[in-house]
Amino acid sequence: MANTAVVFKSNYGATRKYAMHIAHALEAELLDMDRVKKFDFAKYDTVIYGGGIYAGKVNGIKFISSNAENLAGKTVIIFTTGLADPTVAKNAKDILKSLNKSLPKELMSKVHIYNFQGGLDYSKLSFLHKRVMSMVKKSIEKKCEDERTDNEKGILESYGKNLDLTDMATASPLIDYVKGLK
Ligand SMILES: Cc1cc2nc3c(=O)[nH]c(=O)nc-3n(C[C@H](O)[C@H](O)[C@H](O)COP(=O)(O)O)c2cc1C
Repeated sequence: MANTAVVFKSNYGATRKYAMHIAHALEAELLDMDRVKKFDFAKYDTVIYGGGIYAGKVNGIKFISSNAENLAGKTVIIFTTGLADPTVAKNAKDILKSLNKSLPKELMSKVHIYNFQGGLDYSKLSFLHKRVMSMVKKSIEKKCEDERTDNEKGILESYGKNLDLTDMATASPLIDYVKGLK
């Protein structure tokens, strides 16, 4: 699908992996936000944007939020990757809330959102991200065990490890949706 672009921002590769898979399945153009200087909106009918979730926010979402005019009349799809399991209703709701805050109302009402599980390899984290995760761990540890959410328990269990929760099969609904567009 030549008129489809898959744009992504990925710090450690999880989002890139999904973006590559989706672009390949759709024969779409793959664009790394960190390398693209100017995005030619006129070239595409469908724009798919993917970013990891960092402290509740979608990485690089400004690409979508600040281009409402350029995206008018196009199909806009956002996919996120995160450690939290998006099949848990509360987690999906949190992502929706965050996107609601980031995106203008009109754009929000027309975007299609898909959430996937990502990964985290502690050995590859930047100094800053290591510190953030260490602070998150400490704040979870301060809570009584029965007050911790499943998500928080997961963060403690996986702390310091190389966690890959990516599953390309979960991207199929997104791919099928775009294939179904005329
Ligand atoms: C500092 C930091 C904060 C994070 N915050 C969240 C979060 O709020 N929710 C979540 O589900 N995952 C969170 N993650 C996990 C990332 O979203 C996950 O690893 C994602 O797949 C990374 O994608 P990328 O490597 O393509 O950037 C965080 C990771 C780091 C390092």
